[in-house]
Amino acid sequence: MSAFARVRELLSAELRQIAPPSVGFWQILGGLTLFLLFLEITTGILLMVYYRPSADEAYESVFYIINDVQLGWLIHGMHRWGAQLFILLVLVHLIRVYFAEAYRERELNWVIGVVLLLVVGAFAFTGTLLVWDQRAFWGTDAVRRVLAEIPIVGRAILYFLWGGTELDANALLRFYVFHVGLLPWIAIGLVMVHLYLVSRQGIFHRAEAQEQQSAQTYGDIVLRGLIFVVLSFGIVLTLAVIFPVELSGRADPLTYQSVKPPWYFLPAYGLLKLVPKAAGVALASLGVLGLFAAPWLGRNSWVAWGLGMLGIATVALLAAYGWRW
Ligand code: HEM
Repeated sequence: MSAFARVRELLSAELRQIAPPSVGFWQILGGLTLFLLFLEITTGILLMVYYRPSADEAYESVFYIINDVQLGWLIHGMHRWGAQLFILLVLVHLIRVYFAEAYRERELNWVIGVVLLLVVGAFAFTGTLLVWDQRAFWGTDAVRRVLAEIPIVGRAILYFLWGGTELDANALLRFYVFHVGLLPWIAIGLVMVHLYLVSRQGIFHRAEAQEQQSAQTYGDIVLRGLIFVVLSFGIVLTLAVIFPVELSGRADPLTYQSVKPPWYFLPAYGLLKLVPKAAGVALASLGVLGLFAAPWLGRNSWVAWGLGMLGIATVALLAAYGWRW
């Protein structure tokens, strides 16, 4: 028997196995998130072919990608819209894992998940500046001003991330290095450990679900997953075509522009508008620590539910406040 036929036989035997009843729609979210990470990396590599990470050329190179490169506008649009859907899916995946209490006996994987969430945020933040238009420049500069007010460590953080205390060519180059040279490796490494732990520990079952009979095979689950992969690819493609990316003017450090952050940073923005900057950073850090500690704080189902709802309400109210500001 040829190696190909052997692999096919093994695969079809695996796909015909009966899957546990607890693997349903919600467990597809993790796989979809993985697909979007792959889409972001692929479109990102294509954009790197023409992108120039220097303050003199960055804006012009993005302008060139959008207006002159064959299908450049589509790849650029898919990278932008894919990022939005990616962030949304990571958040929904987190909420599903939390409310299913699937962090039980999977504390390490939860902690790795929270680090992945921070990495996704860092991707979005560093990627925004690369366009080097007015919105990107003044949006990033607003964060620089917040960091500069943090006592003791503020300047050190700025020197590490910005390469100085001003937003200039140094910062652009550093953000580029983080965005394409560092964060993808961290994300891929963490995702590999995350998936290894899922495969070793199995998908979380509630005790009552374990007793139910299941009629679905792994083939059914893979097919369902693939349908959603095609669907999400279609959504990103459609959004990129219907709402093409528009640049604001080239970054001008002498002409201030007030910028509202994208939806996923609105809670942090709302918090910083509500309390003094240093206190806002301290409270946000406390929130992130709380997220890390969630599996231990939510040992009791009622407490977990209460804390989860409180967290969602606080984030939603802060986002609404940031939006109205
Ligand atoms: C790049 C981001 C991420 C990717 C690609 C990813 C991928 C996956 C996949 C494929 C699964 C198995 C299927 C499922 O349960 O949905 C999974 C499970 C899990 N994920 Fe994620 N994930 C990511 C982020 C996160 C985040 C932000 C958290 C929480 C803070 C998290 C916590 C977990 C936990 C605890 C499980 C085990 C759930 C169970 O056993 O039912 N993940 N992840």
